[in-house]
Amino acid sequence: MRRMINQLIFSVLLIVILISCQNASENKKVEPISTTQISADLTKNSPVQSTTVKEHPGKAVYEKECLTCHQTDGSGVPNMHPPLGPESWVGKDPKELIAIMMKGLSGKIEVNGEVYKNFMPSHAKLSDEEIADVLSYIRSSFGNNFGPVTAQMVSKIRSGR
Ligand code: HEC
Repeated sequence: MRRMINQLIFSVLLIVILISCQNASENKKVEPISTTQISADLTKNSPVQSTTVKEHPGKAVYEKECLTCHQTDGSGVPNMHPPLGPESWVGKDPKELIAIMMKGLSGKIEVNGEVYKNFMPSHAKLSDEEIADVLSYIRSSFGNNFGPVTAQMVSKIRSGR
């Protein structure tokens, strides 16, 4: 009889200890941080949000219309397609650049001491906005730091005013 009571007390004690342990571990349970929470916090704290970094609108026009000849970095192809860096014609009067867009360019030209005798097609099919954008883009890329070209300037040259 005494042995049974002892066993009973022991079991009850064991149960009490188990329950209290479980409670303790529940209290200490640390919620893992979810990745969505982390990225939300990161975007909240970062000074420049990726969505606010806008690409130059002329970049897409350049990639579609000019890149094949003048190359991604505007370095051109020796003796075939002239470069578009600071040593090129890109810093010239915007009127001349707009004229090249309208009529294309052919015949012997010299860019940065290299002679080119090739042919560039007209890009008059592009809108005033697209021409202004792409010229503004090349004038501020490839190491260039020349002023932008506006759609109004393009429209003026196109209509011969
Ligand atoms: C089919 C190839 C080709 C394409 C496409 C082309 N170009 Fe050209 N570009 C040339 C060639 C070739 C010349 C030099 C023409 C010559 O030898 O008389 C030239 C000359 C130029 C020049 C004057 C010379 C210089 O290097 O500064 C500029 C500026 C220019 N291109 C800008 C552009 C822009 C902007 C575009 C896109 C809207 C474009 N080109 C698309 C081939 C191309």
